[in-house]
Amino acid sequence: MSNSILVLSLLLVIGNYGVQFFFVDGVVDEYTRKYFPSEFVFGAGTSAYQYEGAVLEDGRSFSIWDTFAHSGVPWYNGANGDITVDGYHKYKEDIQLMVDTGLEAYRFSISWSRLIPNGRGSINIKGLQFYNDFINRIIAHGIQPHVTLHHFDLPQILEDEYGGWISRKSVKDFIAYADVCFREFGDRVLHWNTFNEANVFTLGGYDYGFSPPGRCSSPFGITNCSKGDSTSEPYLVAHHLLLAHASAARLYRQKYKAMQHGFVGINLLGFWFEPYTNTTRDAKAAHRANEFYLGWFLNPLVNGDYPEIIKKNAGNRIPTFTKFESERIKGSFDFLGLNHYSTLYVKDDPNSLENDVRDFIADMAVTYTFGNGNEFFPTQFQVNPLGLQKLLNYVKEEYKNPPIYIHENGQFLPHNGTLMDTPRVEYLHAYIGALLDALRNGSNTKGYFIWSFLDLLEVAGGYSTGYGLYYVDMDDKELTRYPKMSAHWYTNFLKGKNMSAIIQNFMVKHSFSSSH
Ligand SMILES: *[C@@H]1O[C@H](CO)[C@@H](O)[C@H](O)[C@H]1NC(C)=O
Ligand SMILES: *[C@@H]1O[C@H](CO)[C@@H](O)[C@H](O)[C@H]1NC(C)=O
Ligand SMILES: *[C@@H]1O[C@H](CO)[C@@H](O)[C@H](O)[C@H]1NC(C)=O
Ligand SMILES: *[C@@H]1O[C@H](CO)[C@@H](O)[C@H](O)[C@H]1NC(C)=O
Ligand SMILES: *[C@@H]1O[C@H](CO)[C@@H](O)[C@H](O)[C@H]1NC(C)=O
Repeated sequence: MSNSILVLSLLLVIGNYGVQFFFVDGVVDEYTRKYFPSEFVFGAGTSAYQYEGAVLEDGRSFSIWDTFAHSGVPWYNGANGDITVDGYHKYKEDIQLMVDTGLEAYRFSISWSRLIPNGRGSINIKGLQFYNDFINRIIAHGIQPHVTLHHFDLPQILEDEYGGWISRKSVKDFIAYADVCFREFGDRVLHWNTFNEANVFTLGGYDYGFSPPGRCSSPFGITNCSKGDSTSEPYLVAHHLLLAHASAARLYRQKYKAMQHGFVGINLLGFWFEPYTNTTRDAKAAHRANEFYLGWFLNPLVNGDYPEIIKKNAGNRIPTFTKFESERIKGSFDFLGLNHYSTLYVKDDPNSLENDVRDFIADMAVTYTFGNGNEFFPTQFQVNPLGLQKLLNYVKEEYKNPPIYIHENGQFLPHNGTLMDTPRVEYLHAYIGALLDALRNGSNTKGYFIWSFLDLLEVAGGYSTGYGLYYVDMDDKELTRYPKMSAHWYTNFLKGKNMSAIIQNFMVKHSFSSSH
């Protein structure tokens, strides 16, 4: 479809569209950008493998995500990141779109195998130039870079050499890679995130086998993995990620902090777990699930050790920290990155503890669903902004209220060409309102990033679903970007408009007719 036809049909649709937003009880729905502190940042994000493409260009080598996407997993529907939205070639125009959208910050990741194709050792000058130019350009437009070092994409060569994150050798290579990034980019990048979704990388990659490197063992994986051990590898990998994070953070503090004044954090997926029923059993089960998913990493980071309940249920399958390691990990983060999408409903399942062969999920002794019904995976997330409030409140109370960046929040919808993404606007409006409530209630949150800036190769659906503010038609050779309604909505918010008024009249008056 040509651009002008698309815009025209959009206007026609909008003209006839009776928008029915619903507001959620207990969440502020009238707000403007000014209700948030001026130093609070709003942005959007992408990650290297999902955005860049050009996977074997200019010296880049494969990461474990390339290998995984090429292994024929059914839920990618044959898709991979070989080209994806071709960000490696289109980043200049995308940066212009960031400016048009009014982003204050941008979250992206560096591809380790583009910067250091052998995993360790010499730097790929072309890779260095790419990230330097990207960073320089966004900064020239006043957009803060927030950089992730590892977004599910360890260089494949290290996976082949020693098994990647199941080996402790990965820690040393990660520190050397982080050192290169701090040294080369740290004069301009102040916000460093070591690992994206450390907990999901671990469970998805080594227990369920649904994400790279796709390891699991029967009967636990959701697929027939050729390698892995779901009972112990997740605990081992988490241990190595924590050691690698803490050592990189220490390196930054010792070698760079005084000169560069930046911050190093780590990112986790924060589901919020609600009891499925109001029984005490399910309430305890939900609390346990939160401790397993978040406390697994947060308790070592804040208190120096794994939660007692995990140590008890995992027994000798979870490694122990030496006193030295424990002290190094404790306090080794300047901020916590949280990705939040949905609330899960939890039922107690004590029987799972009676099995001798258990994985992390069995150790947690719960079952859970996405809705109050029985569906395993929904077609879109329930709008449940109170879950975000409760999550932020939980971190505040249980983990000493650390600075937080919401690194990802957003709604997925079919990637089918519609630009009228009303459910996404509704979702974002409600969650930003919930965030405001949480801030007013004392949460130390410092920023918020929508996932994703544009449609990308998605972890759980290839190109069949998208989260983007901008639509990309994957069959269009030009891979042209088109703003969805949510992009216009976000622009209005970032410009300081009254969002209650915008929402009420939104499409007709404020966004589309004035901008096209
Ligand atoms: C896994 O292998 C079993 C036995 O060969 C087969 O029945 C099952 O369909 C396979 N599952 C998947 C997800 O490939
Ligand atoms: C649970 O909810 C039911 C129905 O609303 C109510 O009758 C019951 O007292 C509640 N139980 C507890 C433990 O709160
Ligand atoms: C595309 O998905 C949206 C849901 O976001 C749905 O409302 C719409 O009918 C779909 N359009 C087509 C052409 O399938
Ligand atoms: C606000 O904070 C207080 C104290 O931490 C807590 O008890 C309360 O549940 C919080 N409210 C919400 C909506 O999170
Ligand atoms: C925002 O707009 C609503 C009407 O939609 C109005 O009631 C409210 O007073 C406005 N708020 C501000 C802060 O201007």
